[in-house]
Amino acid sequence: MILRPESLADRAAVFSLTQLAFRGHPHSDGSEPRIIDALRDAKALTISIVADLQGQIVGHAAFSPVKWCEQAGWFGLGPVSVHPDLQGRGIGQKLIETGLEQLRTIGASGCVVLGDPAYYSRFGFTQDERFTYPGPPPEYFTVLIWQEASSGLSSKVSYHQPSTDNAAYF
Ligand SMILES: CC(C)(COP(=O)(O)OP(=O)(O)OC[C@H]1O[C@@H](n2cnc3c(N)ncnc32)[C@H](O)[C@@H]1OP(=O)(O)O)[C@@H](O)C(=O)NCCC(=O)NCCS
Repeated sequence: MILRPESLADRAAVFSLTQLAFRGHPHSDGSEPRIIDALRDAKALTISIVADLQGQIVGHAAFSPVKWCEQAGWFGLGPVSVHPDLQGRGIGQKLIETGLEQLRTIGASGCVVLGDPAYYSRFGFTQDERFTYPGPPPEYFTVLIWQEASSGLSSKVSYHQPSTDNAAYF
């Protein structure tokens, strides 16, 4: 299996994989494949990595810019998907670590994620009251900071529109 940036030819495969991974997900409204397409069409899919197993796309991770306190350099992780038959083998972890490393390389200040802290804490995501996201339980919205923001600021984070607000979490 190799990890590589998505190519134009991967669009349909990423859509199908995301649909499959989120099918029946308790917090999903089924919008994740369209969110990825909307981000791509809006040129807001900053990083899109696929896990390619002998030509088949079995994993995918998306990273896109988010707005926070009118500061540049903040990104959001998600959606992330691994084929149901191949989950629990470290593919998700490799995709996320690779994407986070690329964000660091391009000088990102940090990355937020909406998801189970039991999973995302292993990458260094922690809850920070300065980063708020209305709706889900607050502990499900965490952030990984590389360049410390001005202290004391507290603001709502918003994803690229019309795209990932109301995205699923798990
Ligand atoms: C979440 C997901 C991307 C993880 O990818 P993966 O390749 O299965 O994960 P990894 O093999 O890297 O990591 C497995 C670990 O994640 C944990 N994990 C997987 N899914 C989890 C979930 N829904 N809740 C909490 N922990 C979860 C496993 O328990 C395992 O923990 P362990 O290392 O302590 O045993 C994948 O399970 C998936 O596609 N799920 C459906 C879509 C989804 O929920 N996406 C995330 C929301 S954007």
